[in-house]
Amino acid sequence: MEQKVIFTSDINISLIEYIRDIDFDRIFILTDTNTEKSSLPVLNDFCKETPGIAYIKIEAGDENKNINSLNHIWTELSSHGATRRSLMINLGGGMVTDIGGFAAATFKRGIKFINIPTSLLAAVDAAVGGKTGINLNGLKNEVGVFAPASQVYISTQFFATMDLENLLSGYAEMLKHGLLDSEDYFRKLIKYDIASADFEKLLPLLEESVNIKRKVVDIDPFEKGLRKALNLGHTVGHAFESFCMAKGKPVLHGYAVAWGIICELILSNKQCGFSSEALQRTAHFVKENYPVAYFTCKDYDRLYEFMTHDKKNDSGYINFTLLNNFGDIELNQSATREDIDIMFDIFRDLMGI
Ligand code: GLY
Repeated sequence: MEQKVIFTSDINISLIEYIRDIDFDRIFILTDTNTEKSSLPVLNDFCKETPGIAYIKIEAGDENKNINSLNHIWTELSSHGATRRSLMINLGGGMVTDIGGFAAATFKRGIKFINIPTSLLAAVDAAVGGKTGINLNGLKNEVGVFAPASQVYISTQFFATMDLENLLSGYAEMLKHGLLDSEDYFRKLIKYDIASADFEKLLPLLEESVNIKRKVVDIDPFEKGLRKALNLGHTVGHAFESFCMAKGKPVLHGYAVAWGIICELILSNKQCGFSSEALQRTAHFVKENYPVAYFTCKDYDRLYEFMTHDKKNDSGYINFTLLNNFGDIELNQSATREDIDIMFDIFRDLMGI
């Protein structure tokens, strides 16, 4: 899966240089209603230097990652004369890179596209690795294709306006990459003072995180095996996300993932011998930096129910990615209902809830 990821401190210069070297007839920039205001102005110099750019805008929000927005993008491409030589630039968070990638990969059977993630979460996850798609009938990412962007440009210029909540949300995926890779990198992550948001110090950590994801995706681009490792924390995390949503108190994806990581490390500790000390250290970091997950033992049934609906499950059991140690991964693990209840008990104990 050919995908170049470029870390740049000047996105305008990088884009100007990029289009100087490629063959294209027209550029389309896709934004949503948020990134049109917050991120498009950052590309001012590039837009001024490049004649004939067409702009496509969709409504922000994951609920708009749907067939109507997709239809709008295809229609705009078509009515503004996009050809197979056109280039699409997806400027936004994961919602924009997912739907924009899907639109580009299917328009005239595929036009070239690049991703410019504007959130930390999109930079470390959605924009890299070639997953594109839309939601359907309430099911997340139900329709899509694997289609890597030709280039992904990561610039912390976009993160400057990001609030701490969204930084923390992206950072949870970095913690996941740390656990999947090495204790050495993980230590650096939990030492970093995320609340200070010093981007100069964040950039090398971010690079390392993206490279860990790329390494996994290069080995298993279509998620037949190893790529499932990237689901660490997500089986329980998605249940927390759905649970909070159902209670009318939605949480950011990364918060749910951070809580899910702790739960799945508890299972890893019990079933695979993952070190208690490393579990405690990770739980401490999450407790110190992330908000509290509010639930009681009366909610276990509901959380369990959400886990049984996870689309990674097959053969009738809930599928977990667990760890023996940092970087030592066990795919396709299961757990009994009793183990899961104990996991929630220990989680509440560790988090002090
Ligand atoms: N978000 C996990 C993956 O790209 O496989």
